[in-house]
Parts: sequence; structure tokens; C-alpha cells
Amino acid sequence: MKYFIATDHAGVEIKNYTKELLEKMGHEVEDLGPFNTERVDYPDFAEKLAREVAKFSEKISEEEDWKNSGVFGILICGTGIGMSITANKIPNIRAGLCHDAYTAEMARAHNNANVLCFGARVVGKGTIESIVKAWDSAKFEGGRHLNRVQKIGKLDR
Ligand code: RB5
Repeated sequence: MKYFIATDHAGVEIKNYTKELLEKMGHEVEDLGPFNTERVDYPDFAEKLAREVAKFSEKISEEEDWKNSGVFGILICGTGIGMSITANKIPNIRAGLCHDAYTAEMARAHNNANVLCFGARVVGKGTIESIVKAWDSAKFEGGRHLNRVQKIGKLDR
């Protein structure tokens, strides 16, 4: 997979940690910044990443697991809240704010989420590793969940 990753000033160190983790897992990572801890506004980075990920919606059909597009996004801020609120404004983005392996697995399995958000001030490195691994190995279940995800998509139009 290719993972786009971005943060605000609150998550720069955790972004680097997550990037290394993804690379060790064998993934390609494109880091959209920032690259220092100067204060920035999270909506700028959330929008930038979400627009990159959303471009890949053309590669798959509405019914498919987003995983088939070949890309995911990861957004980090202090709580993950601002990033998830912003990313979800972009059509075709389903950003899930995850706190543990269970929420990460469900975001993929039930919501076909394509952007993972978490809070650098909320979860520690061990939890982040379990979140990322659960997200990465889960698959969208489709079935009864597909109709619900399609209803979310209709709100974009
Ligand atoms: C920055 O202090 C903080 O507000 C931001 O990282 C994030 O938590 C917003 O949702």
C-alpha cells in the first residue's frame, strides 16, 4: 500500500514514528508535512491529504474495499478530532478517529474508511502500533454495511 501521512505541530514526532512503522511493515509512505514543530493549522494539512486520497476513488467501484485503490491516509493532531472533522468534508473521504485496535478494525470492516485519524496526545506508541496493524490487516465486510456506506456517499452530492 501507499500511505499518505500528515499532522499538525502536535504530532510531528508521532508522525515520524508512524512513518517508520509503516515502512517497516513494507509500505510506501508519502509525508505531506509539516517537517518542524512550528505552529500550523490542522485544516490545511487535513485538506491537503484528503484531496490526495480522494483522487484514488476513480480507481475502484463504490462497492469495493477501499484497500483495492492501493492508498490510505493517516492524519494526526493533538486529539485527532480536528483532522477527522476536516477530512470528512472532502467528497469520497471516510475518516475514522480511532483510539485502539478495535475501533481501527471496525472503521475498515464496517465503514470502509480510507483515512485513519488518531490523537498524538491521546494514544501512546504501543497503541499506535496496534491501531495501524489492525487498520492495515482489516477488510471491508460489505454486505449490510455497503448500503450504509453508500448512504454516506450520497451526502457528498
Ligand atoms: C493544537 O493545539 C490542537 O488543537 C490540535 O492538534 C487538534 O487537537 C485539534 O483538533
